[in-house]
Amino acid sequence: MSDNEEFSDREQVETIRLVTQDGNNVAGDIYALVGGKTFFVNLCAKFYEGVASDEILRPMYPEEDLAPAAERLQLFLEQYWGGPKTYQEQRGHPQLRLRHMPFKINPAARAAWVKHMRNALDAQNLPAIYDAQMWAYLDRAATAMLNTMED
Ligand code: HEM
Repeated sequence: MSDNEEFSDREQVETIRLVTQDGNNVAGDIYALVGGKTFFVNLCAKFYEGVASDEILRPMYPEEDLAPAAERLQLFLEQYWGGPKTYQEQRGHPQLRLRHMPFKINPAARAAWVKHMRNALDAQNLPAIYDAQMWAYLDRAATAMLNTMED
């Protein structure tokens, strides 16, 4: 098998391959498995409900209306998990670390972000295996966004 065949799905950032206890194969992109666009819309709406009253995060968003920010996050996550590439079409290459540089993301800001995202994900009641897969990414990505250790 050539490298290309072996990694024919390498364009997808995260793919899931599982064998369940009853021996069934589960394979596919998380995007479809969790329920497509509706899931990501609900996740991000719930997340920004938390941000709206957060004393560390809310001041970072100059816009009165958080809905456009929720949509940017939603489109990014949809694309990341194998859904449509609308984020890239509208916003260009994600360059997320670079785009977060204007904001002070210290451990407290990271913790606040993670807390609201955890609440938002809990509210979606995903099967545990998809929840764990998605959470591993979100938690890691939040660490990657740290850009200062200062208070
Ligand atoms: C660790 C704490 C984080 C903080 C404090 C934070 C804060 C922010 C802020 C203030 C913005 C600008 C608001 C706007 O969209 O207009 C933003 C944008 C964004 N954030 Fe975060 N963020 C964090 C982590 C993350 C993570 C982990 C992801 C992805 C998994 C993410 C994805 C995005 C995306 C996609 C945008 C929009 C970028 C654009 O197209 O302009 N953020 N974030």
